Amino acid sequence: MLEILKNRRSIRKYKDKRIENEKIEQLKYAALLSPTSKNLYSWEFIIVDDKKIIRELSKARPAGSAFLKDAPLAFVVLGNPKVNDVWIEDASIASIIIQLTAQSLGLGSCWIQVRERDYDDNTTSGDYIKGLLDVPEDKKVESIIAIGYPDEERPVHKIEDLKLEKIHKNKYGL
Ligand SMILES: Cc1cc2nc3c(=O)[nH]c(=O)nc-3n(C[C@H](O)[C@H](O)[C@H](O)COP(=O)(O)O)c2cc1C
Repeated sequence: MLEILKNRRSIRKYKDKRIENEKIEQLKYAALLSPTSKNLYSWEFIIVDDKKIIRELSKARPAGSAFLKDAPLAFVVLGNPKVNDVWIEDASIASIIIQLTAQSLGLGSCWIQVRERDYDDNTTSGDYIKGLLDVPEDKKVESIIAIGYPDEERPVHKIEDLKLEKIHKNKYGL
């Protein structure tokens, strides 16, 4: 697991290569194995591999999501506040589990933030995506995880660059 964490970087350029069904199946299982508060399963996922829909999804944010247009696969992570008030935590954990599983399968990925972001002055990014994908009103969109074979190399984070000051021992500041 540490190797997966060490080697993971956000990847925003993808090869024009489809992802094998077996890998998509594994991503699907990984998402469904994510821990969920009170075992309430507040999340749902929409797996998008239709190029036309992915292109439309890439417009969900004025900045920050355009790179999705060239990805072969996207996981749209949904949550339901009526099922659990901590749906954001559930959906975030599932999002990162999808990313780490992608890494373990030799795929690159990047999180696209949707919650609290806008498509334009009148429409949130979440509502834009819900309209595009026929998502029922009571659901929320947390993120889109863009996935594909990496077409860029990014250096791994160096151990010496890690922010050790973020870790405290026994009491804050120690
Ligand atoms: C909650 C969250 C939201 C993010 N939203 C976006 C986004 O909307 N667009 C994007 O290109 N990257 C997004 N990222 C990726 C971050 O920019 C990236 O993780 C950060 O720069 C660190 O780089 P690394 O992932 O390569 O270690 C997001 C990451 C997280 C955890």
